[in-house]
Amino acid sequence: MAEFTLPKNSKVKKGENHAATSSGKAKKFKVYRYDPDSGENPRYDTFEVDTEECGPMVLDALIKMKSEQDPSLTFRRSCREGICGSCSMNIDGKNGLACTTAIEDCKKDVTITPLPHMEVIKDLVPDFTHFYAQYASIKPWLQTVTPEPSGKERLQSPEDREKLDGLYECILCACCSTSCPSYWWNSDKFLGPAILLQAYRWLADSRDEMTGERLDELEDPFRLYRCHTIMNCSNACPKGLSPAKAIAETKKMTAQRQV
Ligand code: SF4
Ligand code: SF4
Ligand code: FES
Repeated sequence: MAEFTLPKNSKVKKGENHAATSSGKAKKFKVYRYDPDSGENPRYDTFEVDTEECGPMVLDALIKMKSEQDPSLTFRRSCREGICGSCSMNIDGKNGLACTTAIEDCKKDVTITPLPHMEVIKDLVPDFTHFYAQYASIKPWLQTVTPEPSGKERLQSPEDREKLDGLYECILCACCSTSCPSYWWNSDKFLGPAILLQAYRWLADSRDEMTGERLDELEDPFRLYRCHTIMNCSNACPKGLSPAKAIAETKKMTAQRQV
């Protein structure tokens, strides 16, 4: 019979309370803390943050907590303007970028956890090793067989360039893949929406000459066809992209070449 009790060390316990460092109006942030090396269970720490004393985004609040309340709080960030994809996490139940999520758009107390269904390295930092290996597997670079025109770039018409809009903007934050139920259960074999959008980015590129080989690699009951068009991915993307549409286009290409 299936057992539905979680193992003891997976239970998230109540953690510490970090009082605000100034006397203004404080907002509470419930933040997931976990250090697999410690042998301790994960916990939720509560940070009271005077939001009038920090920038407007959730990332600004996290930086304030780390600087003033607990320097061991661990999260990734770099650009702080939605370009690098480092600060992806789950904020109040929705995957997104901490640097583009406004504190004022969050309800009263804010709960912050790592992206779901990924191994946690520490606190809000998930392990992207498998995700990046899947990205490398689709050979995300221009592949050609014809020689380069001497002394010139491979040209592309403005119309063909436009076909890459909605694809090239992907910042590989994994908000979409980690919101996809098919990816949660089959991430060992299913490539997931982020990587499939990237794969389509090369299929859609008029300069690439490996379309057939790329489709051969994707045409598999798991790698591509585990997408059941649930659409969570497109709802989750903080850049407004639609991996589900890219996947549908890829499926159309595989079907069309069989006709
Ligand atoms: S549309 Fe496909 S890839 Fe996107 S969430 Fe649904 S199953 Fe996952
Ligand atoms: S498609 Fe959107 S959510 Fe998915 S990895 Fe790219 S930017 Fe992130
Ligand atoms: S810090 Fe770069 S996307 Fe948020």
